[in-house]
Amino acid sequence: MKTIAIVNGPNLHRLGQREPGVYGDGSLADLEATLQAEAEQLGVALRFFQSNHEGALVEHLWELADAGVTGVIFNPAAYTHTSVALRDAIKGAGLKVIEVHISNVHTREAFRHHSYISPVAAGVICGLGLKGYSLALHALAGQ
Ligand code: DQA
Repeated sequence: MKTIAIVNGPNLHRLGQREPGVYGDGSLADLEATLQAEAEQLGVALRFFQSNHEGALVEHLWELADAGVTGVIFNPAAYTHTSVALRDAIKGAGLKVIEVHISNVHTREAFRHHSYISPVAAGVICGLGLKGYSLALHALAGQ
């Protein structure tokens, strides 16, 4: 069975509490439960990981590659806009990443308009709320 990883970066552990006007009311646990149910319908296995630490995210990406998980749904959160290290891990480990943002980063502050991750991502979804993760899951499961 194909395994797909869902990786979330800093502050996303507080989904539902954090700026609900921007990120919605659903918690990370709610999101993971929804995706788990969808994965069962699609016949794929999921692995979940969230960290507020850049280095932990780098190490986790390499562990996913070592485990043979090539499909990753990744919301790098604020590190999207700052992290060469995460970009290099994706590229170096040869991971197929769909970059997901809950909000439409292009309608927000200018510092959110640039992503270090997009040039090494297979696809990018933003602005569709938590639904973006489901769309990415369907895309990776169908490949
Ligand atoms: C985010 C957008 C980022 O700019 C922000 O730093 C986040 C969340 C999103 O999902 O919309 O933490 O990645």
